[in-house]
Amino acid sequence: MTRFLQHKPRIVEIVSVKNETPSLRSLNFRDELSSEAKPGQFIMTWVPGTDEIPLSLIPFDEDGFVRIAVKERGEGSKSLLRRAKGDMLGIRGPYGSAFTHTNERRVLMIAGGTGTVPLLALLRTLASESIECNFILGASTARELLFAAEIRSLAGKTKKATVHVATEDGSEGEKGLATDLAAKVLKDQSFDRIYTCGPEAMMRRVLDLAKAAQTPVEAGLERIFKCGSGICGSCCIGPYLVCKDGPVFNGKTLRGLSEFGFWARDHSGRRVAVGTR
Ligand SMILES: Cc1cc2nc3c(=O)[nH]c(=O)nc-3n(C[C@H](O)[C@H](O)[C@H](O)COP(=O)(O)OP(=O)(O)OC[C@H]3O[C@@H](n4cnc5c(N)ncnc54)[C@H](O)[C@@H]3O)c2cc1C
Ligand code: FES
Repeated sequence: MTRFLQHKPRIVEIVSVKNETPSLRSLNFRDELSSEAKPGQFIMTWVPGTDEIPLSLIPFDEDGFVRIAVKERGEGSKSLLRRAKGDMLGIRGPYGSAFTHTNERRVLMIAGGTGTVPLLALLRTLASESIECNFILGASTARELLFAAEIRSLAGKTKKATVHVATEDGSEGEKGLATDLAAKVLKDQSFDRIYTCGPEAMMRRVLDLAKAAQTPVEAGLERIFKCGSGICGSCCIGPYLVCKDGPVFNGKTLRGLSEFGFWARDHSGRRVAVGTR
């Protein structure tokens, strides 16, 4: 990608929308730069008159089509969810670091909530390279499980891969947290690398499990982004800017950050406890 080109704002037309869960909708559009994004990278999405918010990218075919999936939270996401086929969006990016992979043959992905979005992008890439992608998908309830059918179909492309589901209310799969399931899986099986994205408390636990299993791990972080491009400092964690140095960090870096899994910053920069997202 030509340097700096990704900073140029573009206006794109929504070509289709799909309700994935009662509170999350996918939007598809065409953008050449976004279609070259690596799993874990994000775009800043501008809804004129409302806000500009970061969203993970799922490049989905060779013709430059991409997908974003947005969950209802505050004003920005609600406004984006009201957009329909044919409406316009402003975007810039892709930005940030991506999940890495080298010679892994067998990996484990542990996803919770909207953290499933970048891991679905990663699964699409790794499954196409015949890497055995095992997946643990967690949600509060069956209705909020994201992309379960697509994940099963992609993971199923490699013969031995398994998809495990955990819901907190037990409405599908094992009752409990994705990390409880991950602990069981990691007791019996070994993997070349673990990838995780979801609530920060969940990822902190995954880091501990990966350490006990002596397995390299990478995690995708969410922080409040304003500029999304390394200028304003609103996304800081320790000495790092999540929008520029992340959002994907390796386990070694994250273990050195005492606030990871415990503290973040709100819109005014005040330190707040990390809740479930
Ligand atoms: C790199 C990255 C990738 C993301 N990918 C996705 C995605 O694929 N799909 C998706 O639905 N969401 C994603 N998010 C989260 C999304 O950007 C926020 O939900 C959105 O910015 C909220 O804006 P809002 O105006 O709707 O809510 P606001 O009114 O700004 O906030 C509502 C509540 O959400 C909290 N909040 C706001 N922004 C964030 C944030 N970035 N992280 C955690 N809590 C936040 C606020 O503190 C507040 O409690 C991503 C965030 C980052 C940083
Ligand atoms: S969001 Fe501005 S520096 Fe990261």
